[in-house]
Amino acid sequence: MEYTSVKGMFDILPEELHKEDQWKESGCWQYLESVLRDTAHDYGFKEIRTPILEKTELFSRGVGEGSDIVSKEMYTFLDRGNRSITLRPEGTAAVARSFVQHRLYTQPAPHKYYYIGSMFRYERPQAGRYREHRQFGVEVLGISQPELDAEVINLACEIYRRLSLRELNIQINSVGDLKSRSDYQEALSQYLRPYFSELSLDSQNRLAKNTLRILDSKDLKDQEILQNAPLLSQFLTQESKNHFATLLQRLDQLKLHYTINPKLVRGLDYYSNTVFEITSTDLGSQSSLGGGGRYDGLIAMLGGPNIPGIGFATGLERVLQTMHKQKVPFPPSPHPLIFLVPMGKQAIDYAFVLASELRREKISCDLDLSGKKIQHGLQIANLLKAAYCLIIGEEELSSNQAKLKVMATREVIDISLNALPSVLKKLLTRSTV
Ligand code: HAM
Repeated sequence: MEYTSVKGMFDILPEELHKEDQWKESGCWQYLESVLRDTAHDYGFKEIRTPILEKTELFSRGVGEGSDIVSKEMYTFLDRGNRSITLRPEGTAAVARSFVQHRLYTQPAPHKYYYIGSMFRYERPQAGRYREHRQFGVEVLGISQPELDAEVINLACEIYRRLSLRELNIQINSVGDLKSRSDYQEALSQYLRPYFSELSLDSQNRLAKNTLRILDSKDLKDQEILQNAPLLSQFLTQESKNHFATLLQRLDQLKLHYTINPKLVRGLDYYSNTVFEITSTDLGSQSSLGGGGRYDGLIAMLGGPNIPGIGFATGLERVLQTMHKQKVPFPPSPHPLIFLVPMGKQAIDYAFVLASELRREKISCDLDLSGKKIQHGLQIANLLKAAYCLIIGEEELSSNQAKLKVMATREVIDISLNALPSVLKKLLTRSTV
């Protein structure tokens, strides 16, 4: 039997042989994660890590029974104690659970958290859609002012800017507060009911449970029917209208360009007022690079006080794929400064200890312990892209002198073995590796 990874999941390897998969290399992820962390810290966010598994009720209540994520896509199983457990499909409900559980609201607001981690959704795998994907997300709890919505959208844009991504589109909408939504839901289902038999099967199913999601339908007939449907914006309460207007003003102040998309509702039930999505045409049909919104009722729904929230998450695979498509260069991955090639048993004994001493001095170093010929060692040094290579044989040991080879120029520097650590330290400060 041949063992392969689970469908829709993939390994992150140091090197990928296929050019189109190069965005999957671990060096790309390390770079992306460092930009995400730095940007989050610059915006005053602190890291939160929650377990990958949660009790199933958290998502069915938090994300909503009517959402696709809960109704079709969760990895849910019974553990050995017969408890229903779910691999987290998203981060917001888990952060909200942790916030309530640890009474973090007793500390002064705003509470600003960020996370990076795997999410699991049992979707039909295709380009840009995986069953395990990684998200970077932020959540701000405790402040209902629209300025916070603008800050979160600005943070998202700043991340993409730092990563040199181009031609992104911010789509934004308000789904209103609870009253706006229930008034609109009623009006929309009244409008759609006469068209029931013409709607797609998905939309027919959504009509009773999750009417607003019909607006997201990609079905052409659904879209045609929706053309004359009432708009959510006509049902917003004055408070929701004011919130949205101030948010747009703040975005203008920050010179962020956005498109108001009155049909944007997003697939998670906890949203209220602001929703937004950042898309890239370079992603094909899975065009959403990141998205988020306000969820003012979620903390109370999970048993906490009535505390508002706003957040955003972006899929790391999609960010890396867009960078790859747009030919954004990644910084080179680290290479050893020096590669030691010992010849013979005595030299191996010597190099074995020398390598450990160099590493203690924080000089990155690797060595050939295979006992094979010199050509083998040189080949590995080339493969690892070491900046320098040192061949140590019996002669070098007895004379305490060796030749340090500069791999890029093939220049050779005579060096005393005792002085090696200090010479390498000097080279390291000058070197660009
Ligand atoms: P979401 O839109 O469901 O929002 O997911 C956020 C991002 O994760 C998407 O924009 C996309 O980049 C990525 N993503 C989602 N599903 C997949 C998949 N199957 N394969 C690859 N990438 C995927 C949320 O999860 C919310 N929790 C965001 C949020 C935070 N709202 C408020 N706070």
